[in-house]
Amino acid sequence: MSISESSSKSQQEKTCLMVGGGSGIGLAICEMLAKRGYRCLVQSRTLKEELKILASRFDKKIIPMLIDARTIDDLVVRLSPHLSVDLLVLVHGPMYQKKTEETVSEDWKEMMDWNVHLAIDLTLEARKAMKSGGTIIYFGFDQPPYKTNTHTAAYVVAKKSLLQFIHQYAPVLYERHIRSFCIAPDFVDSPLLDEKQRKRWISYAETGFLLDPEDIAEGIRWILDAPPSINRLVVPIKKWRSCRKNKSSL
Ligand SMILES: NC(=O)c1ccc[n+]([C@@H]2O[C@H](COP(=O)([O-])OP(=O)(O)OC[C@H]3O[C@@H](n4cnc5c(N)ncnc54)[C@H](OP(=O)(O)O)[C@@H]3O)[C@@H](O)[C@H]2O)c1
Repeated sequence: MSISESSSKSQQEKTCLMVGGGSGIGLAICEMLAKRGYRCLVQSRTLKEELKILASRFDKKIIPMLIDARTIDDLVVRLSPHLSVDLLVLVHGPMYQKKTEETVSEDWKEMMDWNVHLAIDLTLEARKAMKSGGTIIYFGFDQPPYKTNTHTAAYVVAKKSLLQFIHQYAPVLYERHIRSFCIAPDFVDSPLLDEKQRKRWISYAETGFLLDPEDIAEGIRWILDAPPSINRLVVPIKKWRSCRKNKSSL
C-alpha cells in the first residue's frame, strides 16, 4: 500500500460526534467531513428533511442520532457512550432575539444551560473518553468582553462565557493530546435567523457580507489540516471588511 493510500485509509477511519448538527452550519460541516472520509454521528432533536437527504447521500458515513433530551444532564448521559471519537463538534446553540431589559431570568438560564453548561459537561466527559490526537470544536462569539450587544443579550453573554471556559480548559485537554478551537463566525445564513433578521441580513448578503454555512465548514477543514502543535485558537470567520462598509450605503 502506498503512503497516500494508507493515509487516506486512516482518514476514512476517523469518527466525529456532532452535537446539534442537524441543520444550518452543522449540515455543511457533516458534508465536508463525510467527503473527507469521516464517519459522523449527528445528534439532533428532530430528523429534518435536509439531514435525511444528506444521510442517504453519504450512506453509513452520516448517521443521524435522534435525541430530544429535556435536560442537559439527560443529554450528557445519552451522548457519553459515543465520545470515543477523533473529532467532537459542539455546534448546538440556541439564540434569543431579546433586548437586555426584556430578557427574563428563564432566558438567561436557558442560554447559559444550552450554550455553556452543556459544552462544559461534554468537555469533561470527552477529556476521559476521546482519542488521543483528537480535536474539539466549539462555537463562540468574537467580540471584546466590554462590548455590549443590545439585541441578543443572553446569547452573547453565554457565548462569551463559553470562550472563557475554552481558554481555561484547553491546557488540560492538551495534556491528553486533545486540541480545542473556537469558531467565531460573523452572520451566517442559517435557520438561526428569524424573519426580521433574515430581511436585514439578506441586504447584507447583497453586499457579500453574509457567510454561507460552507464558509464555516472550510474553516474547520483548515483546522483539521493544521499541524498538531497548533492549539487553542479562536478562529474568526468573516467576509472582507471592505464588503461590510457597503452596508451603510443601503
Ligand atoms: N448563524 C449565525 O449567524 C451564527 C453566528 C455566530 C455563531 N453561530 C453559532 O453557530 C452554531 C450553529 O448555528 P446555525 O447558525 O447553524 O443555526 P441552527 O441551524 O439553528 O443550528 C443550531 C443548532 O442548535 C440546536 N439547538 C437549538 N436550540 C436548542 C436547544 N434548546 N437545545 C438543544 N439544541 C438546540 C439545534 O438542534 P436541533 O437540530 O435539535 O434543532 C440546531 O442544530 C450555533 O452554536 C450558533 O450559536 C451562528
